[in-house]
Amino acid sequence: MTVIAIDGPAGAGKSTVAKLVAQQTGLPYLDTGAMYRCVALAVLNAGVKIDDEHAVGKIAQDVTIELIDDKAILNGVDVSSDIRNPEINSVVSVIAAHSTVRQAMRSQQQKWIHSMAGGVVEGRDIGTVVFPNAECKIFLTASPEVRAQRRVDQSGGDVQQVASSIAERDRIDSTRSDSPLKPSADAHIVDSSTMTTEQVVACIVNIFKTFGEDADG
Ligand code: DC
Repeated sequence: MTVIAIDGPAGAGKSTVAKLVAQQTGLPYLDTGAMYRCVALAVLNAGVKIDDEHAVGKIAQDVTIELIDDKAILNGVDVSSDIRNPEINSVVSVIAAHSTVRQAMRSQQQKWIHSMAGGVVEGRDIGTVVFPNAECKIFLTASPEVRAQRRVDQSGGDVQQVASSIAERDRIDSTRSDSPLKPSADAHIVDSSTMTTEQVVACIVNIFKTFGEDADG
């Protein structure tokens, strides 16, 4: 089983990079953030309070989430663009902090990894908790200023507002008690602040190849 775990804070470029790493290595790709975003949308649609851990956890257990190519399908409906809207950005970290939600998502993610016999999996807790046996763990980061600017370049918005929204999500993601955002002790830290996408992808693919050589030799 070959797993490349790519964790890191919001706006570090994980999705862009992970998709390209998947293409170059021929491995399937899983965006675990999209799964938490689907749960957040289902919670808002149901009109449930985001801090009601029991009710939110029940929704997380009951939803059907399919991630096919770049599409996110929630209970049979294509929600690919809905899960990227600012309202979801503002609630997803609170919803993702509930243990009930994390347990439900973690078990789906582990099932996916086993059914695909590996993959490039990006998120916050892949190398630490979801798949701690991954042979290649990357913690992808960049300075807060660079991350905010990249998000603005990608989706527009005011850079100060985007920066504070990212900072708030990182705060919630890294201080929750269940599987907080943090680098695994054996992760390679890649700071992409001054790197192009191509350089980051090449760097990760090189790290991955080194693992292959180590294993062979
Ligand atoms: O990567 P993203 O921005 O799409 O993730 C959305 C939110 O989901 C993020 O704020 C934290 C949460 N998340 C998580 O807690 N664990 C993961 N493995 C992936 C995402």
